[in-house]
Amino acid sequence: MAILKEQASFADRLLGWFDVWGRRDLPWQKGITPYRVWVSEIMLQQTQVATVIPYFEHFMQRFPSVAELAGASEDEVLNLWTGLGYYSRARNLHKTARRIVHDFAGEFPRDTALLETLPGIGRSTAGAIASIAMGIRAPILDGNVKRVLARHHCVDGWPGKTATAKKLWFLADLHTPEIRVADYTQAIMDLGATLCTRSRPDCDRCPMQTSCEAYALNSPTSFPGKKPKKVLPVKSALFVIARNAENALWLEKRPPSGIWGGLWSFPELQSEDQIAEWCQRTLNADVDCIELAPPLRHTFSHFHLDIQPAIITVCQSSQRQHATQVNDAPQAGWMSKTAITQKGLPAPVVRLMNVLALV
Ligand code: ADE
Repeated sequence: MAILKEQASFADRLLGWFDVWGRRDLPWQKGITPYRVWVSEIMLQQTQVATVIPYFEHFMQRFPSVAELAGASEDEVLNLWTGLGYYSRARNLHKTARRIVHDFAGEFPRDTALLETLPGIGRSTAGAIASIAMGIRAPILDGNVKRVLARHHCVDGWPGKTATAKKLWFLADLHTPEIRVADYTQAIMDLGATLCTRSRPDCDRCPMQTSCEAYALNSPTSFPGKKPKKVLPVKSALFVIARNAENALWLEKRPPSGIWGGLWSFPELQSEDQIAEWCQRTLNADVDCIELAPPLRHTFSHFHLDIQPAIITVCQSSQRQHATQVNDAPQAGWMSKTAITQKGLPAPVVRLMNVLALV
């Protein structure tokens, strides 16, 4: 990693390119506030721009300010997040909104160290909020920026390794200018997203070509280093899809931590043998028939989950509406189609409902 004395020229060339080619019409670039930038950055953490846009617009319509987000229920926030995945982002968004309102009088702190104390805000997100929304000189290091810097300086190693991350943060800080920091932040992300792409970088159009070390080696795609491959373990679960005479479905709210924390899902059992007993214990009803639908695989970052859906039809004289209550809020119950569409649901539950034409 040779560092040339070129801090000004790196930022200047990038900004010159941004003035012509940068993206300026993304929804979060209009009416910039710390709140809008924060929500967009959280949504963009593991999700593509094209996917995020409609979610962002819808979210801003429903929660135009941090106070409105803080005043909502977690269920409603999770509902707006349905389909975006990585639901801890939505739970943290809600927690942070409440912290901003209660501990910071409704204003985002103008300090990256304080921003980093908020749930879901790491160093890079704090840098993005501070630089884009507040004009504070603060580096960022998201996936796009890691790729640009690793190539420009031939930084070996997978950025998930502490030593590699440390080198990249050093470079991110080195190149971040004092002036036009908001544009610079957007520019380096745009370069990574539009030219310095993962598999087919367009080096001929890149403003950094003349100083890019990986280009000089004719090997841009060798950087950054790849994550060591791990075979993901496979877990399996049986989902009980209980339907009653009114076509309502029995859903349970999952515990706050763990996968799909706080989302509404089908009850999960280990095997088919447990269905009859579950039905008796939970619904006080006998099972008429069990129909096993085709299995579905859902892949998380650290394991595959093979889901076996078991559809049961329940006839019962006295339906219990809510099996359990915590602080007066129902944690399980029969839900109509209308009730279901107002809840936060894991993506595979939505897929199952659609595939099996349940709602
Ligand atoms: N990815 C992360 N932040 C982004 C932003 N502000 N614009 C486009 N893509 C991004």
